[in-house]
Amino acid sequence: MISVGIIGCSGYTGKKLTEYCSNHPKVNKLKLYSYASAGQGFWTIAPEFQGVIANLPVEHSSDLDLSLDVYFTALPHGESIKIIPGLIEQGKVVIDLSGDFRLDDAKLYEKWYHFTHAAPEFLSEKIYGLADWKETTYSGKKLISNPGCYPTVSLLSILPVVKEFADDILTVSTVAYSGTSGAGKSANADLLLSEMDGNARAYNLHHHRHEPEILQLLNKDGFVSPFSFSTHLLPVAVGMYATTNIFTRMAIDPDQVKNVFASAYEKSAFVRMRDQAPQLKWVVGSNFCDLNVSVKGNSIIVTGAIDNLIKGASGQAIQNMNNYFGWTPSLGLLPSEVNHVSVY
Ligand SMILES: NC(=O)c1ccc[n+]([C@@H]2O[C@H](COP(=O)([O-])OP(=O)(O)OC[C@H]3O[C@@H](n4cnc5c(N)ncnc54)[C@H](OP(=O)(O)O)[C@@H]3O)[C@@H](O)[C@H]2O)c1
Repeated sequence: MISVGIIGCSGYTGKKLTEYCSNHPKVNKLKLYSYASAGQGFWTIAPEFQGVIANLPVEHSSDLDLSLDVYFTALPHGESIKIIPGLIEQGKVVIDLSGDFRLDDAKLYEKWYHFTHAAPEFLSEKIYGLADWKETTYSGKKLISNPGCYPTVSLLSILPVVKEFADDILTVSTVAYSGTSGAGKSANADLLLSEMDGNARAYNLHHHRHEPEILQLLNKDGFVSPFSFSTHLLPVAVGMYATTNIFTRMAIDPDQVKNVFASAYEKSAFVRMRDQAPQLKWVVGSNFCDLNVSVKGNSIIVTGAIDNLIKGASGQAIQNMNNYFGWTPSLGLLPSEVNHVSVY
């Protein structure tokens, strides 16, 4: 059993983490932290959980109990980095949902995140926690950097093809769509219901910070071909969809590609290969990533759908905790794998 702290429990991903940890069969102590909502009970900041999970007190994020085993940081980028080095130095396990440690190269933070990285020594001392990818290993390091939501669905769509056919790939293009919760709960006029209802639009073309994160992993597997990544907002609150077009030098046998995906995810509890293009409705509210692959001649099209707050953030973070401790990956994430009495 372990004790857990959630820093940033009032945000979209922090609330989900609180729900999952409250029902997790291996968590016997849970502490919640916030800046703006310190001093309140969890039900005050998340009334939807009244009578569902315990009304835990919310303490101030600058007054952490350092006796806990694991800390989740669900803070905006640039904020996690202020807390994490101190926790790691205390020997704690930290699972960070922000982008503060995802990139390996400190210089990239200036270009993509607009800050000078204050703890570059930790960038090589982290696990990039793509939880369903068979090559993700958890030994020896205390910091798990949870992937971004777009990188999660994009990498799960592309990596099996790159592993098998890297030398034969001409180009890869991922066109991805997100619900508005992907931007967190901070006020933003562009995300008002009256702006987004009945609307859709592309944003951050050629400068989305998830692009270098995706390329970082693809490049490690020998991918050097042109990659294009475009992001769009959908008029839904939750859900993320990615369609990836991959062109190869020569025609590829469709059965070979399907077998590559089947074998890549045969041990994954949360990637479901589908016979048809997935739909958001199949995954929203769950930790699943649904994928379909269609092949014709030298064109491979992979479609993928996730819940951005769960598989793209909190659910994957819990899966990373499970993987780190060698527990069943679905503990706390599937109805058959939760405690029915929440922790105090
Ligand atoms: N939303 C997604 O789909 C998603 C997916 C993957 C990764 N992420 C990442 O996960 C992290 C949390 O995302 P989220 O969607 O949960 O964000 P959010 O809803 O905006 O919540 C962030 C929380 O951080 C706390 N905070 C501390 N310092 C802050 C500051 N200077 N400005 C604003 N908030 C501050 C706030 O709570 P208190 O004041 O109560 O402390 C706030 O509730 C982010 O780094 C985000 O990029 C999000």
